[in-house]
This record gives sequence, structure tokens and C-alpha cells, in this order.
Amino acid sequence: MDKIRIIGGTPLVGSIPISGAKNAALPLMTAALLTDEKLVLSNVPYLADIVTMANLLAQHGVSLSLPQGKGRSMSLDASNINNLTAPYEVVRTMRASVLVLGPLLARFGAAKVSLPGGCAIGTRPIDLHLKALEAMGAEIDLQDGYIHAKVASRLKGAVINFEKISVGATENILMAACLAEGKTVLHNAACEPEICDLAYCLQAMGAEIQGIGTDTITVTGVEALHGAHHTVIADRIEAGSFAAAAAITGGDVELLGARAEHMTAVIEKFEAAGISVSETARGLRVKCEGRIQGIDIMTAPYPGFPTDMQAQMMALLSVADGASMVTETIFENRYMHVPELTRMGANIVVHGSSAMIRGAGKLRGAEVMATDLRASVSLVIAALAAEGETLIHRVYHLDRGYERLEEKLGLCGANIERITSRQSIKTEAA
Ligand code: EPZ
Repeated sequence: MDKIRIIGGTPLVGSIPISGAKNAALPLMTAALLTDEKLVLSNVPYLADIVTMANLLAQHGVSLSLPQGKGRSMSLDASNINNLTAPYEVVRTMRASVLVLGPLLARFGAAKVSLPGGCAIGTRPIDLHLKALEAMGAEIDLQDGYIHAKVASRLKGAVINFEKISVGATENILMAACLAEGKTVLHNAACEPEICDLAYCLQAMGAEIQGIGTDTITVTGVEALHGAHHTVIADRIEAGSFAAAAAITGGDVELLGARAEHMTAVIEKFEAAGISVSETARGLRVKCEGRIQGIDIMTAPYPGFPTDMQAQMMALLSVADGASMVTETIFENRYMHVPELTRMGANIVVHGSSAMIRGAGKLRGAEVMATDLRASVSLVIAALAAEGETLIHRVYHLDRGYERLEEKLGLCGANIERITSRQSIKTEAA
């Protein structure tokens, strides 16, 4: 398994191109299943999760290309779907696979999708997805770890009241409703920018959707959707992650393509911590000259502070002056990065869903282990500011959500390199 070695202490200075949003690209790829015409997506990040989704769609019969060239475009053609099963060996590696359920059911009237199982950050049930599809007339049967879903004729529009705000459930039902008979109203819908991006693409494909960006989305089903060309929005979590890296090193970095309007809660917290964030013609500039101040953070559904930025902020606040309190309200086990940051000298104590962070002054390099996607990037952020060398194991977690991370950070002066498993075997053998 690859490792990443970082020697900390260099302020990051320069500019970093922000890639397309993973959490927009994944549902957009499943939207291709809703039509027999070609869907072309541009600005698709080249990530492990994108390849996993491509493999999943290909085994359904979608013909597609992986993101090509500078424009990172990929075309998807679902005119020859010949398999309605999403197998366990794929779904267990990437929970977003469950997003094929709504489109397959809506267009073909049947789907067999493995239950995703839990993951490092929580049990992550999909009861909200299934309840909503049943309300639309689907028969759902759970057997031997699979969801067996079918509908006699066509899904019917329904009024759906989500008990909890769920990004995935909103996306699954939004896509299913596009081809359902009649009107579907989603109440308490998630309104993340990635959901808006999906909705705009569905509209371009001929879907009739109102209320985009609000917690009440109304969809009037149509007979069929057609092809379209859609450009994926910039990744606000990647941008926030690199902003934290710039800040913790006392750097000055421009995040090319970052969109401030998608990051208001994150920008507010950066500014409260004494970090300057300003909009530029090309994106966002993050500059940290003085000391970082401790602040309190509570994660919440959009437009609140994103849970996907919690681990990164914890790394940043571990070198702040004073104490900070971080409360995770979305997932029940999203503190796997704490013991690893503690190995680097961070002073963090977890009480239930809250963590108290006392500024530890300087962090020290250490051998640490990535446990999940955002935990792994929080270790990179800490390592960039730590004294000495940090070796991060299991970086395959990182590759799921960050494209060319070492290259992007290296361009700004970071002392970072990837040690591929072949190299490390050679080193050990030497
Ligand atoms: C999406 O996951 C993102 N993934 C996650 O990003 C992100 O952390 C999460 O939304 C919250 O913003 C993608 O978009 C691919 P949820 P999702 O359904 O859809 C509970 C990353 O790092 N819930 O909004 O799975 C659930 O357990 C990843 O890029 C139910 O109880 O999240 C959680 O506590 C990590 N029943 C809460 O809702 C359900 O049926 C929010 O989950 C569904 C969810």
C-alpha cells in the first residue's frame, strides 16, 4: 500500500486548481441511467471513487469513458442496460453505489442492489431511501443482504416527508421522481450545492423540477429524459481542505475555481479563527499571517458547517491559541482522526459527539494511519505544519476524494512525496 511522506514547516505559497466535486459527479454519473441518450459530463475529477462508479455502471451495461483530457470530460450511454443488479463486492467499497437504485427502478421497474453496510464513520442506514420509494409504489424486499425492488408498472408521484435531512436519499428520490407518473414533493430535502448541480443537470435532460436549492423540491414526472452536456461544480470540500493546509502553514494560496457562495459557513469559521479569505477573479485567496484563534464549530446540513470539513478543521485548531470545541451532529463515529492527530502532539479530548481541542503550539511528525477519506486529509494538513517527518499509511483513503494531492501541494512548496508500495518493498529489501 502506498504511503505519503511529508516534512513539515514550509508555508504554502502559490495557487491550487480545484477539481470537480466528487459528491456531485457521483450522482450525476448515475443520472445517465435515466435516459437512453448520451450524457456528457465535464470537469469530472479523476478519483478512485469515480473509477468505482464507472465500473459499477459498466457492469449494468453503460458504455462510458473515464475522464479525458484537460476538460476531464466523460460520456455515458445507458441505451443497452442488460443487468439490474449492483453487486455487494462493489457496493461495499463505495456507499454512493446505492444511488443507482432510484434511476434503475424509475426507468426499468426493477433493481437488485446490495445493502451498503456500515463504514468507518457510522452505520449509515438507507431506510429513508427505501421508505420514500415505497411511498412511490415500489415493493421493497430485503433478502440475503440485497434490496430487491420492483414496481408493477411505473413509480407514482408522492408527497415525501424526510424525517431526517439526507443528501443521498434526496438525490435517489429526486432522480426517481423525474420518470414517475405525476407529481412528487420532497419535504425536508437536503439542499447541498451538489444536489442543486444534479437538479440542474436533470432539468437539462428534460426533467421538470421546482424549488432547487430549497428544502421543498417539486418534480413533475415525464415520459422520458434526453441526453445533455453538464459541467460539474468545483469541489467545495477539496477547496476547504486546501484552505486549511494554507492556513496551518501560515501560507498564502489562491484556490482556482473555488466558489465562495458554496462555502459561506466554512469561510465564516476561517475568518473567526483569524484567517483572511477573500474572493478573487479566479476563486478564493487564503492568507494566514498571525496566530490562529481557537473557535467553536458544530456540523450541520447545508448551509451549515459541513461534516466533511470537520476533521480538517480539527487539525487546524490543534495549533490554535486557546481552546476550541467541535461538535459532530451528522455521523456517530467521525472522530477516527483524533487518536492519529494525538500521536502528532495534538491535545484533543472527545466527550460523546463533542471534542475539546486545546492549542498544542507545535505538532511533531510521526507515523500515522489514514482511516477514512476526510480523516486522511486532516493528517496531511497536520503534517504540513508539524516539525519533522510524518509518514501516512493507507493513503488509498485519500485517493478516493483528492486528485493529484501531492502534485497540487508540491506546486505551493510543500515537501511531500508518495512512496509507492513497490518503492517501499525495495527500500525495506535494501
Ligand atoms: C453524503 O453522504 C456524502 N457522500 C458524504 O460525504 C457527506 O458526509 C454526507 O452526504 C453528509 O453531508 C456523497 O455525497 C457521496 P446522508 P450520504 O444521507 O448521502 C443518516 C465524503 O467524505 N441517514 O446525508 O450517505 C446517516 O446515517 C462523504 O465525501 C439515515 O439515518 O449522507 C447520517 O447520520 C462522507 N437514513 C445522516 O442521515 C438514511 O436513509 C446524513 O446522511 C440516510 C441517511
